[in-house]
Amino acid sequence: MPVAGDGELAAGDLAGLDVVPFEVTGDAVESCADEAGCGWLQFHGAPCDTRGDDPSVPRMIADDDAGGSVVPQAYRCPHCSLALAESATVFECGSGHVFDRAREGYVNLLPGGRLAGGPSGDDDAMVRARRAVFDRGAYDPIIDAVGAVVVDLTSGRGAPRVLDVGCGEGTYLARASTAAGGAGWGIDISKAACRLAARRAPGLHVAVASNHRLPFDSGPFDVVINVFAPRDFPEMLRVLRPGGAAVVVTPGPHHLAQLKALVYDTPRAHRDDEPTPAPPDSVTTVQFTVQLPDPQLRRHLLEMTPYWWSASPERRAAVEAALHSVDAEMLLAVYRR
Ligand SMILES: C[S@@+](CC[C@H](N)C(=O)[O-])C[C@H]1O[C@@H](n2cnc3c(N)ncnc32)[C@H](O)[C@@H]1O
Ligand SMILES: [Zn+2]
Repeated sequence: MPVAGDGELAAGDLAGLDVVPFEVTGDAVESCADEAGCGWLQFHGAPCDTRGDDPSVPRMIADDDAGGSVVPQAYRCPHCSLALAESATVFECGSGHVFDRAREGYVNLLPGGRLAGGPSGDDDAMVRARRAVFDRGAYDPIIDAVGAVVVDLTSGRGAPRVLDVGCGEGTYLARASTAAGGAGWGIDISKAACRLAARRAPGLHVAVASNHRLPFDSGPFDVVINVFAPRDFPEMLRVLRPGGAAVVVTPGPHHLAQLKALVYDTPRAHRDDEPTPAPPDSVTTVQFTVQLPDPQLRRHLLEMTPYWWSASPERRAAVEAALHSVDAEMLLAVYRR
C-alpha cells in the first residue's frame, strides 16, 4: 500500500473538538430549558437515570461488550442538542421536540426539516442512478475496498459503530458495516438518498442531516466513512472515538477520463486542493475499469456524476451510444484520530 504521509494528527488539530455546540435555531430556544427532568433519555428505552449530570454536556455510556467504547446513545436534537429517545414512530428529546420517523425508517433532523438557503443534496434521479450502477456491480472494487479497510480498522472491536457522512443511497455503508459485523449509521442532506439508504440493509440508522453539523455526541464511532461527499474534518474527528479512523474516498486525477472526454471539449484532470487537518496515515489508489455493456447503464453512470449537468442533450446521447467502458481512479485515504 503506497503511503502518502506518515503524519500523526497534531494535538492542536484535535483541540477543542470535544464539544461542538449545536447552533440553536428559531423559536425552539425558549423551550430548551430542561423542564422535563434530567433530559437524558436512554437509547434503548430504559428509564432516564437521575445522576444529576449537566444535560448540556453530551454523555457517553461505557459499553463493556465493546471493550469500553461508547455507544451512540441517541441522536442529538437539532434544536436543543439533548439526546433523542427513539420509538417505532418518533424521536423525541427531553424538551419535547418531536421528529417523525418516515415510513422508510429514516428521520429528518434538519431544523425545520430543511437547511435554509443551503444545499438540498442529490435529487431522486441522481440517487436512483447511483443505486442502479451499484446494483450492477460496476463499483464493486471500491465498495469492497472500503469494506475491507473498515474490517481491518475495526478488527477485534466486537460490534463496531460505522458512520457514513454523505451516505447517499447507502450501499457503501451497508456493505462496510455488515462486513465488519457492526452497526451502520448514515446521514445525508438529501431526503431522496435517505429514503433509499434506510432500506438498503436491515438495522441501518439513517438521518437527514448536514455533514457540517453531525447530530451526535462526541466520540461514539469507531470509523467514519466519507465517499465523494462534502468533507468536514473537524466534525468527522469529533464523532470518532480516540483511536478511531476516518476513511475518505476522493477522485484521482484520471477518474472517469473517457466520460469527461465525451462531455467536455477540453477535459481537465481532477485536482483536489481541499485542505486536510494533517497528512493521511495512508493513501491507496484504487483503479479499475467499469464495463458499460448497455446504454441504460452508461446513462446512469453519467447521471450520477456532476458532469450530467454540464452535458448537452447531444453529449448525453454520445455517452449513451459510445461509452463502452470507463476507467475509475480513486484515492482511499485513512486518517486516524
Ligand atoms: C456524490 S454523492 C456520494 C454518495 C455516496 N457517498 C456514494 O459514494 O455513493 C454526494 C452525496 O453527498 C450528499 N451531500 C451533499 N451536501 C451534503 C451535506 N452538506 N451534508 C451531507 N450530505 C451532503 C448528497 O446528497 C449526496 O448524496
Ligand atoms: Zn430538543
